Amino acid sequence: MTGSAFDIQAAILAKLDQPSLLIDREQISYANEPATKLLGKHIVGSNVRLALRAPSAISAILAKQDSRALVSGIGNDDSVWELNCQLLDKEQRLVIMQDMSAQRSVARVHADFVANASHELRTPLANILGYVETLGDKKAGDDIDVRSRFLGIIQREATRMQSLVSDLMSLSRIEADRHRMPEEAVDLVAICKKVAGEFAEGGELAIDLPPEPIEIRGDDAQLCQMLRNLVDNAIKYGKTDKQVSLSLSITPRGRALLTISDDGEGIPPEHLPRLTERFYRTDPGRSKAEGGTGLGLSIVKHIVSRHRGKLDIASEPDSGTVIEIRLPLIAE
Ligand SMILES: Nc1ncnc2c1ncn2[C@@H]1O[C@H](COP(=O)(O)OP(=O)(O)OP(=O)(O)O)[C@@H](O)[C@H]1O
Ligand SMILES: [Mg+2]
Repeated sequence: MTGSAFDIQAAILAKLDQPSLLIDREQISYANEPATKLLGKHIVGSNVRLALRAPSAISAILAKQDSRALVSGIGNDDSVWELNCQLLDKEQRLVIMQDMSAQRSVARVHADFVANASHELRTPLANILGYVETLGDKKAGDDIDVRSRFLGIIQREATRMQSLVSDLMSLSRIEADRHRMPEEAVDLVAICKKVAGEFAEGGELAIDLPPEPIEIRGDDAQLCQMLRNLVDNAIKYGKTDKQVSLSLSITPRGRALLTISDDGEGIPPEHLPRLTERFYRTDPGRSKAEGGTGLGLSIVKHIVSRHRGKLDIASEPDSGTVIEIRLPLIAE
């Protein structure tokens, strides 16, 4: 079978899943189906400058040598495409487009996280450096009151950095393990008792646990950390004179149900969807004043999902917050 070079090229491009174009001088001479879906049928025969509009795409396509470009805003605003442009001969060009949107959004989330984490670490560090410098000054450093006040601040800020670093490390460890379901059998009743014991001093925690063990496949340390974060929030954001309660039971559908509730100020509904995002706080000033990193609920979310569980947060301003976690029991 013989055919013109154009027909052969078009027949090959018709088989590709990526949007692909043939360009003759500046005119689009062929567009495969994915390309017409993305850019519209009318592009065939039209000038590439009009069809694509994005300047970086046009200059890559019309370059005098093979070139690549990363272009956003073709199709819809959030999409990112890599254009691979090749010169077939003096007049003809081939353009194959690769959808990079998914990779880009992962990269963006990653970049945002690094930027946030750096920012969160920089603030206490700047404070520490500032107070150390002032203490180095003879006038302030020799005054006993000033000295002990500043040392207190330095210690608080350093502790803050320490908890940030340890939360960040927890998060990355839990995330690294997220596809590996914990194998060990653990007793949730014992875990609740252990964590409740850590909060026993304040006397703010009421517990309601079944007498017999409730076993799940789990990671003991992570489940303790999950519970600790939730009880800590309930006490921190609950009303000072009210009790926080922690209960454990088995649902009619045969799952372990952990409930942590407080009668505190509650969470305005607009914040609920973003609560488990890293560093998200409804009141950043207050959370920071309490030494919070804003990572607690994000750690909880990751631990629950590693245990194939379900996390529900229900809250109403002024009437309190109820957190429910459902976890699969060990299959009989
Ligand atoms: N029980 C609750 N009642 C009211 N608001 C809450 C409650 N739990 C969490 N929040 C809100 O959700 C935000 C995120 O909670 P998260 O535990 O992730 O961070 P944090 O408590 O600020 O910091 P950390 O947990 O590191 O101490 C909090 O800053 C707070 O605004
Ligand atoms: Mg917290």
